[in-house]
Amino acid sequence: MSDLKKEIFAKVEEYFEQNKATPGDKVTVGFPCFDHNEVNQALDSLLDVWISQGPKVKRFEEEFSKYVNMPHGIACNSGSSANLLALTALIQAGRISPGDEVIVPAATFTTVISPILQVGLVPVFVDVEMETYNICPKAIERAITDKTKLIMMVHSLGCSADMEGIMSISKKHKIPVLEDCCEAHGSSYKGKKVGSFGVLSTWSFFVAHNMTTGEGGMVLTDDDELEDILRSIREFGRLKKYEPGKPRFYYNDGHLKDYDERYVFTNIGYNLRMTDIAASLGIEQLKKLDSLNAIRGVHAMDYIYGLVDYENKFIKLPTIPKGTEHTFYGFPILIKEDAPFTRKELVNALESNGVETRAFMGGDLSVQPAYRDTECRTHEKMPNTVALRDRAFFIGCHPYLTRDHVDKVVATFKQFLSNYE
Ligand SMILES: Cc1ncc(COP(=O)(O)O)c(C=O)c1O
Repeated sequence: MSDLKKEIFAKVEEYFEQNKATPGDKVTVGFPCFDHNEVNQALDSLLDVWISQGPKVKRFEEEFSKYVNMPHGIACNSGSSANLLALTALIQAGRISPGDEVIVPAATFTTVISPILQVGLVPVFVDVEMETYNICPKAIERAITDKTKLIMMVHSLGCSADMEGIMSISKKHKIPVLEDCCEAHGSSYKGKKVGSFGVLSTWSFFVAHNMTTGEGGMVLTDDDELEDILRSIREFGRLKKYEPGKPRFYYNDGHLKDYDERYVFTNIGYNLRMTDIAASLGIEQLKKLDSLNAIRGVHAMDYIYGLVDYENKFIKLPTIPKGTEHTFYGFPILIKEDAPFTRKELVNALESNGVETRAFMGGDLSVQPAYRDTECRTHEKMPNTVALRDRAFFIGCHPYLTRDHVDKVVATFKQFLSNYE
């Protein structure tokens, strides 16, 4: 490394020592926890003028897939794109066909569902479990028909879904599983990382998540054929064999003669690439992920400890299923049906005291305006989804919150709830 580069990096470190960005007094839902390491890694790419997809993306793919223990990582520009890529790859590989049904939880984020419709598949909504906010295995099994060709499940807010239950249904009915892990970086089930159970897993590195590249995503797979297709359709549908820097005018197929391999397109693709600048942030964030998640766990325990007296009286606190490692992307709270106050009243009290709140994603996606008049199918009544839609919300639990922030949250809850005791 040149002396000038070292000097620049040292200055950046000095800058961060004097100017650490923090959420201030506000208890924000998310906050990008990064310092000079991320900035210098990104600067390194900028100074070397590697600004699009390049060696840092490759390194981030290798390191992240190794962390989750999946053979292949295909980085892209968001979690939504990761879902679109994963579903498109399954179609282009002939594993599923337009018109086939995909079982999904109704209570989740919108771009779990929209890519299913975008590629011509039919989402079949099923209910979630009240304790974990995750898709219910029994509800999955009841919704299976001859047309069901995929189970697309989500690990919600850092909590692993019941992978034993889901994988045994998958095996019994020979239906592959796609795990959306956009809210669960580092979570595990019985010692195995989420994202390593299904044939594909998808990830988001959006700014509020447990690790971030600003905007970014990844698809992981253990399937070599899907890997090839994913790499191709991420990048215009380019010939799988094409490698930057290699001799190129060697493509022949009876139609094209000694053609430039860089401009041979074998799939109908998109451009959903990640940049090396984003990947630089990811490389540094991954090194910190476990320690950042540990702080989330401490905050969650402190919230639970502080609010336990109200558990089952007014509110329901999150549970950590046995054998799982929960990474608390957010801290969910469900208001009991017979509570003497509404969600709106409680979140207004929190917000006016500087505690940010969010609804549990799309609540019940089957009734969201975008999906009302689509081909989505709802298999049966979904009482838990409706309860979460109407009475749940979540607050932040990220590592840049301090003990003072946590105390403020607990005090605000206590002040509000004491009105009803
Ligand atoms: C479960 C789930 N899937 C997909 C996404 C989309 O990720 P992105 O915002 O990176 O597009 C999100 C967003 O947070 C999500 O919560």
